This record gives sequence, structure tokens and C-alpha cells, in this order.
Amino acid sequence: MRRDRPTGHPQAEHRMVGKLSGLLATTALAAALTLAAASLAAPGIARADDAPADAKPPADAKPYVVQNGRVDHHVFNGYRRYGDNCLRCHGPDGAGSSYAPALVDSLKHMTKEQFEDTVINGRQDVNTANQNVMPAFGLNPDVVENLDEIYGYLKARSDGVLGRGRPKKIGDDDDN
Ligand code: HEC
Repeated sequence: MRRDRPTGHPQAEHRMVGKLSGLLATTALAAALTLAAASLAAPGIARADDAPADAKPPADAKPYVVQNGRVDHHVFNGYRRYGDNCLRCHGPDGAGSSYAPALVDSLKHMTKEQFEDTVINGRQDVNTANQNVMPAFGLNPDVVENLDEIYGYLKARSDGVLGRGRPKKIGDDDDN
């Protein structure tokens, strides 16, 4: 049986063609849309002086979501990772200890880049009698992969929008 021949049943053939042309139309539409999108994105044609497609969020965008003292799951994850990796030196809630500085204060003047650099590479205060060491966490995936969220949690604490203790999650009941 030759493959390029449909069943021969006229009705079936008709249905096939109908389906096919529908498909073709859809494909053509999709192609046209893709083209349109591409030409919009093309430099020169696009609003070149306007915000580029990969524009970053505004500089004043907060690195956390906190509503009425409640946090989203990113901030909550940051809280947990902080507890696992940083609390033993920097104290509960980023409030500092006799060994390591209060990160709630540090983040009032440190940039995010400085924060990340310190956590990844560690630091030792060699210019004073203080021999306390900030370990390098660059090889610790639990810290590296969650660094944005640890930062977000600490920044929320530093900005004063989040109190001490285990944060409540947005949408949770009060007794959670
Ligand atoms: C073993 C103890 C220890 C642990 C664990 C630790 N730190 Fe530190 N950290 C320190 C010490 C000590 C310093 C101060 C170092 C110095 O004076 O140079 C410090 C400094 C820092 C600073 C710079 C603060 C400033 O004001 O300059 C940041 C940021 C920081 N730590 C973040 C973290 C984060 C985030 C974690 C968890 C992922 C963490 N640290 C875990 C001991 C620790």
C-alpha cells in the first residue's frame, strides 16, 4: 500500500485535509508571532533607548518579601540556613555575639557584593589583636546555593521589617 495515499474514503480524506490546514494555519500563526516578537526584540527596531529586555529590577527593589512581619518561603529558607550555618558565631537572629559581629548592623553599610565576597572567601581581622576568623563558605553548597536567601533574611532583619525569632509565613495561621 502506498503511504502517500489516504484511506480513499472521501469523507475521511476531507476530515484529514481540514485538520491539516487547521494545523498549518496554527503553525503559520505561531511563526508569524515568533517573527513579530523577534523583530520587536531586534536592536534598532526595539525601543533601544528604553529599558532593555534584560533590565534589572530597580536599584531600590528589596531583596526580600515581608508583609506585616510575615515572610515568603525565600526569606524563611534564609532564616533556616542562617540558623544552620551562621548562628553559632553570629548569634540568634543576626544579632551578634562576643565572637562575631551583628550582621543586622553590618548590612546597614555593607553592599550585597561585599557580603557575598566575605561569605564566599571568608575573612580574618589581622590588623587587630582580635583573632576571630570568618570561615570561607565558598565550598559549602548549603550556603552558596542559598546565599541570596540568607542575604534576604538578614537584610529584612537589618531594615527593621522583621522581628527576632522564627518568622511567620505569609498565609499561615496565627498559631503556626
Ligand atoms: C566560626 C564562626 C563563624 C561562622 C560559622 C560564620 N561567621 Fe561570619 N564572621 C565571623 C567572624 C569572627 C567575623 C569577623 C571577621 C573579621 O573581623 O574580620 C565574621 C564576619 C562576617 C561578615 C562581615 C561582617 C562585617 O561587619 O564586616 C559577614 C557578612 C559574615 N561574617 C557573614 C556570615 C554568614 C552569612 C555566615 C553563615 C553562612 C557566617 N558569617 C558564618 C565568624 C563566623
